[in-house]
Order: sequence, then structure tokens, then C-alpha cells
Amino acid sequence: MILQLIITILFTWVALVFVEDSTLSAQKSAAGSKSGIAGTMATHHPKGWQFTMPRGEPLKGRAVFEKYECYDCHEVRGESFPYPTSDPGPELTQMGPLHPREYFTESVIHPDAWVEKKYRSGNGGSKMLDVNDRMTVQELVDLSAYLASLRPPKLAKSVTAVGKVVAVIPQNREIVIAHEEIKGVMDAMTMGYKVSTASQLAGLTAGDSVTFTLDTEKRLIVKIVKVKE
Ligand code: HEC
Repeated sequence: MILQLIITILFTWVALVFVEDSTLSAQKSAAGSKSGIAGTMATHHPKGWQFTMPRGEPLKGRAVFEKYECYDCHEVRGESFPYPTSDPGPELTQMGPLHPREYFTESVIHPDAWVEKKYRSGNGGSKMLDVNDRMTVQELVDLSAYLASLRPPKLAKSVTAVGKVVAVIPQNREIVIAHEEIKGVMDAMTMGYKVSTASQLAGLTAGDSVTFTLDTEKRLIVKIVKVKE
């Protein structure tokens, strides 16, 4: 009885393996002929080939950006374009340093290729304006150059701001300040900052109004004085 069972199982297994094997080899031969084509194609363009855009002129690209009113949806920090009115896409100076020209070309002519989740429209695609039937190739070249040339505007090395002391933590050489907007650097917020020398904290207590100078690169307070009220 048990032997019979074992034999049945063995038979089924052998049969299964055989069937699987024959489908596999059928698939393999199909794939083989496909890879044969790919193999031939590979010999037709240089190894490591990549699509490249001609260099283009960023300044002309800026004019293209204006012409197509890309600023309707995109802020470009440091530029004088009108501020986006509705449904904005990402701010663009952040992106310049991160991508090659060709990435921007693709963003413009094939925006659906890659859409960050939070920007996806109802159908999962991009909400970008379609310009493919209007933009000339030269415009596209220059626009790509412009987008790739964007850099976040340089911050002033140091800025002065006003705020109220929330806490003083001498052992960390730190002070927590609720400050107003520091234009171009950060919004109004409560934040802890290191001070350059511990002696700067002397005489400061929570509730004091202060004026302070911040090194924007190091996020370090280099000077802080109590404001007499
Ligand atoms: C109707 C609003 C709208 C207009 C107009 C628009 N965009 Fe966009 N754009 C978006 C949105 C939304 C995204 C983010 C979704 C995506 O990646 O497609 C985006 C993304 C981008 C990106 C970044 C893509 C990425 O992968 O991060 C670039 C670059 C860009 N747009 C350039 C342009 C240029 C150049 C124009 C003008 C020709 C333009 N956009 C016009 C809405 C718009």
C-alpha cells in the first residue's frame, strides 16, 4: 500500500519534471532567438552608448522657459518669474546639480517616464504640460541646458535675526531660540543652535529677546546680544 503510494508520487514527480523541462526548453529556444537579435544590435552601437543632448545655451533656454510659461507650475529660486499660481510642480534650482542634461530633456518631452508619487495625477501619469507638438528641437536643447545649469542661490555667509530665548544649555554650548523668518535661509521656527564660544551664553536666560548673527554654512551663532526692552 505504502509502496504503491510512493510509486505514484514518484511517477507524478517524474512526469511533472518532464513537462516542466520541455516547456522550459521551448521558452529557452524562444528567448535564445530573441537574445540572438539583441546580440546583433549590440554590435551596431558602441559599448556603453548613451543618449546625449547637444550642449545648448542656458540663456536662450531661460527664454524658452518663459515662452512656455513653465513658471506657472515651477518656482525657480532666485529668478524673477511670476510665482506659480496653481498646482505647482517641484522647485527647480534644487534639481540642477542632481541630474545630467538628458534627464531634463526627458522631463520635458516624456514626463510620464518618471513621476514622483506625490505628483502623480489620477491616471498615475504626470500633470506636466505637453509641449511636444509645439517646441522646436533647438528650444528643447537650450531648455535642457538651462535646467541643468540651475543651482540653488548662494546664501549670505552670515545673517542677522531676532528672536526669543527658549532655553540655554551651557553644557552643550547651545541655545534654543524661537526666531522670526530669516529671509532666504529659513522660516520662523524654534530651533537649537550651537554658539561659537561658551561665554556668549553668559547672562542669557529663557524669555530674553535677542539679536543674533548666524553663520549660515555652519548653522552656528557667532554673535548674540540681549535686546533691552
Ligand atoms: C501644469 C503644470 C506644469 C507645467 C506648466 C510644467 N510643469 Fe514641469 N512638472 C509639473 C509637475 C506636477 C511635475 C512633477 C511630476 C513629474 O515629474 O512629471 C513636474 C516636473 C518637472 C521636472 C522634474 C521632473 C523630475 O523628474 O523631477 C522638470 C525638470 C520640469 N517639470 C520642467 C518643466 C518645464 C521646462 C516646463 C515648461 C516647458 C514645465 N515643467 C511645465 C508640472 C508642470
